[in-house]
Amino acid sequence: MNPSLEALFSQLRRYSESTYYPYHMPGHKRRAFGALPHELAALDITEIDGFDNLHQPEELFAALQRDAARLYGAEESFYLINGSTGGILSAVSAALPEGGRLLMARNCHRAAYHAAYLRRLKISYLYPPILERYDLCDAVTPKQVRGALEREPEIGAVLVVSPTYEGRIADIRAIAEIVHKKGIPLIVDEAHGAHLGLARGFAENSCQAGADLVIHSVHKTLPAMTQTALLHVNGTLVDRDRLRRFLRIYQSSSPSYVLMASIENAVRVINTEKEELFARFESRYREMMRGLRGCRRLSFLPPEPKQDIGKLVICAIGSGLTGRQVYDILRQEYRLQPEMASWAYCLAMFTVGDSQEAYDRMTDALLALDRRLLAGEWEPQAPEKGAVDRKTACGEGAALVTRFFQDEGQEAIPLADAWDSETEQVPLRDAPGRFAGEFVNLYPPGIPLLVPGERITRTQCTQIAEYIAQGLNVQGIVEPSERRPELSLRVIKQDSDVTHIAETRWR
Ligand SMILES: Cc1ncc(COP(=O)(O)O)c(C=O)c1O
Repeated sequence: MNPSLEALFSQLRRYSESTYYPYHMPGHKRRAFGALPHELAALDITEIDGFDNLHQPEELFAALQRDAARLYGAEESFYLINGSTGGILSAVSAALPEGGRLLMARNCHRAAYHAAYLRRLKISYLYPPILERYDLCDAVTPKQVRGALEREPEIGAVLVVSPTYEGRIADIRAIAEIVHKKGIPLIVDEAHGAHLGLARGFAENSCQAGADLVIHSVHKTLPAMTQTALLHVNGTLVDRDRLRRFLRIYQSSSPSYVLMASIENAVRVINTEKEELFARFESRYREMMRGLRGCRRLSFLPPEPKQDIGKLVICAIGSGLTGRQVYDILRQEYRLQPEMASWAYCLAMFTVGDSQEAYDRMTDALLALDRRLLAGEWEPQAPEKGAVDRKTACGEGAALVTRFFQDEGQEAIPLADAWDSETEQVPLRDAPGRFAGEFVNLYPPGIPLLVPGERITRTQCTQIAEYIAQGLNVQGIVEPSERRPELSLRVIKQDSDVTHIAETRWR
């Protein structure tokens, strides 16, 4: 970090107080307008003299991106103002030729699927192991990657997500070694791990572990504005000019200086205060986990090296409540807004941006909720709330959610062919055996439950109906209406060319 370089926010503030009049974009002319506050507009400039250009960095952004690279141990880093989404699109597009084969974890974010669609890639999937006790996806393993690469010599790049949305960390060092033996690049969607590798006691980040392209959402786990992210590059397996080309394609030609200043600010503050910030972060987390040992009904993914301490996974299985109910109670009764919920767990995020109060309030609320559970406030559940809820929440049933994923291997119909095919809407009960024509996502986290081209199973349809009954946000399902009184979804029209080819292959 160049200490003589004035913080970008300070430069923007100084400029806003100068006497320069803006005969240029943006149209608010740095003034309050309607409900647009002056404080926001004042700092919002475009590429004017003295402020460099992200897409053609000379002094300012070249220096800032170098600082980011140094912090993470990357050879080169790029600021992203379209989130990790833009980084994943660019990384996947640059790593493979059009039509190439990508090996990717099935629990990747939808941006990875969008890249595969746009570049007409063929996909082979790695199905993450399931942590049955908590009913969530673990990170993929080196053994899985090795197996897939041995089976499928055509694979040209590998994409894995680590940490997962729930904080499961993969052995990237071992995976990188395996992937590099084949001479192909490893891309790591480390959107949830921008805080890794920055201080003692934390897992190394994927740049340090040897990945070629690493994507960080700065906004997710560091104190930065929404949409801010970084893409890091190492080695020579991905052509950097090609990467720059895709970054220009997928990102705005008018990147926000407020967002870029926010990345710079996060990198600067972390750089100068990391030891202290992360030591406090870790000790608060450990103290919270010690306090939560008092819970008898609720349980938590235990602190261990494979679990990121920024994620508190509150497991509801066997508690008498579903994860969604825990989420609602925390929100409505304790005024705590979690990140997401599934039927099995509720997820809360912590970062260096939290004060001690965040840990205390969560600990107190969970201990109080646990006492209420022990006192029988929610037991037994009313049958009409859903057979699956009742069975699992009372601890009788085996975990079932992530049974969504199908057999290891290649997609049934390539995504690009499937998504461009003619589709029709059918009731959910008629969908088993048909090929999905649209993505179905549980949001958050935006990991597809169904990908266009996948053959739909009966279990998947039952689960989708259950998710909806539990009030989870399922995208890609058409809600009942007067004209169509049932839940329905889009499938590829029968007897189209693509389904014919797939049927022949499956027989
Ligand atoms: C694993 C993962 N990758 C990528 C993304 C996309 O990140 P962004 O919101 O920064 O575009 C998300 C978003 O939730 C995610 O969970």
